Amino acid sequence: MRIVDWAGDDEGGPAVVLLDQRALPGATEHLYLRTVDELIEAIRSLAVRGAPSLGITGAFGVALAAHLHGTATPVAVAAVRAAAGRIAVARPTAVPLGLGVARALEALDDGPPAVLAQARAVAAEAARVNAAATARAADLAQELCADRPLRALTVCNTGPLATGDGGTALGAVLRLHERGALAEVLACETRPLLQGARLTVWELAAAGAPHRLCVDSAGPAAIASGLVDAVFVGADRIAANGDVANKIGTYMLACAAARSGIPFVVVAPEETIDPHTPTGADIVVEQRGAEEVREHGGTLLTLPGTPVYNPAFDVTPFDLVTAIVTEERAWGPGSSPAPSTAGPRTALA
Ligand code: MRU
Repeated sequence: MRIVDWAGDDEGGPAVVLLDQRALPGATEHLYLRTVDELIEAIRSLAVRGAPSLGITGAFGVALAAHLHGTATPVAVAAVRAAAGRIAVARPTAVPLGLGVARALEALDDGPPAVLAQARAVAAEAARVNAAATARAADLAQELCADRPLRALTVCNTGPLATGDGGTALGAVLRLHERGALAEVLACETRPLLQGARLTVWELAAAGAPHRLCVDSAGPAAIASGLVDAVFVGADRIAANGDVANKIGTYMLACAAARSGIPFVVVAPEETIDPHTPTGADIVVEQRGAEEVREHGGTLLTLPGTPVYNPAFDVTPFDLVTAIVTEERAWGPGSSPAPSTAGPRTALA
């Protein structure tokens, strides 16, 4: 099943195709995006979401713009660059979105097919990175909880839907399942848009991995009750000092894990660590619309017009993290200072 891909350049014109995550798990529908505005709306409305999947979508979005405008004249190139700039800031927190856009733009001088090849390379690279990071995280989890199959807890969705092939945090949990080392996953439902209930449960069920769903506020209680051996989460942006921005609800799980002395493991591509964001206080946390909290499925859950606080993410301080596991390393507060090995990067965001 294609999560994000190039749909070709048929008589309907060039298009990016993606699995509409808003419709899951009820329906598997593909969206064909033929304009940059449609692609940006798909990102904003979470038809596609999850940091690495946003990076892949951003790269294919630049390929779409290059096919729509061409690259033969300075005016056309300027139009592609303007479109790329709008795609890169469609959501502000996830690092890979801006990087995927920037990477696709590197091929602009060589024409639309080269930009498309670059977008495909971004997707292939994500799969390679995810495979390495999830294997390392699964190894670490088995080392930390060596004596029995592991009871994991996770929030939001960090499987292939969020990342392209392989997943990150949920990918590590699925690796444990493949190894026969997973007893159970507790999946937090992830209010308000229910990425845990709708998407993580769907992916766990498809993999045949034992799981239960819980409301977000039951996560810390489950940890305190001794029902969880380790917490696995992804990341949208990791500051240079190790502070981690991830789905709202992550911080309370980190606090509970620290209080109970169980591992809190972040699994993310190395590129998520942003050398240009010194600390968590510098991370721009996306604020989303009030209707996401006031309503569900068209039903009003509160008084009409109730003012709402709806941050998409929270920031977990590095000292609550056991390890940030990437394709290159496991970095924890106890390990020697490990600044990102990534050189200077250009991100459009
Ligand atoms: O708002 P979303 O659904 O895009 O949030 C996604 C998350 O918070 C994920 O945990 C994060 O992007 C990492 S995906 C491997």
